[in-house]
Amino acid sequence: MLTKIAVLISGGGTNLQALIDAEKSGILKSGKIVLVISNRSDAYGLVRARDNGIETAVITRKASGGQERFEENIKALLKERGIGLIILAGFMSILSADFTAAYPKRIINVHPSLIPSFCGKGFYGLKVHEAALAKGVKVTGATVHFVNEIPDGGEIILQKAVYVEDGDTPETLQRRVMEQAEWILLPQAAEMVSKEISEKGDAYGKK
Ligand code: GAR
Repeated sequence: MLTKIAVLISGGGTNLQALIDAEKSGILKSGKIVLVISNRSDAYGLVRARDNGIETAVITRKASGGQERFEENIKALLKERGIGLIILAGFMSILSADFTAAYPKRIINVHPSLIPSFCGKGFYGLKVHEAALAKGVKVTGATVHFVNEIPDGGEIILQKAVYVEDGDTPETLQRRVMEQAEWILLPQAAEMVSKEISEKGDAYGKK
């Protein structure tokens, strides 16, 4: 049985697009994206989802009346749709320990650095690349990992290195890391974990 996937986003959704493309090309074949949830109503990723006939939902912390209700609303929808795998693809909200404990090895996240560098609270989006350039690293990359109660602290699934080039700005570096790492790794990891879930009923051997 195909693993039903929900993708959580906050912005442009280029990683969501990579997942949609991977499903079309057959790279992602053990899972199906059935739901996209955004915590921002203006996230362009919502348009990408709708253009591809995928159900969308906007759930914000503000409209929910706080973090607890926000997470309850997300959980309720995930349950209703029978979601087996949650993919955080540029989702800029840290989920509580209660939330992550409800889905052990069922949530994966893509992060634009080689964890444990430039990760954790405060390191998201362009800030990650700004920090990498400020430090002067010559190699950076991306990581896909399981999500647990520690921000960017869960078990690593896949990583890929990307060279920093002379004259890089946070924007040029972000783009290269996406093209050379994130958009390749995230679909691969989504397939690996979807396959495990659909075959074993759980990811990575936990029966
Ligand atoms: C991506 O680079 C993703 O790795 C990063 O935000 C960007 C979202 O782009 N995520 C984080 O920093 C999470 N800590 P997208 O909306 O185009 O996929």
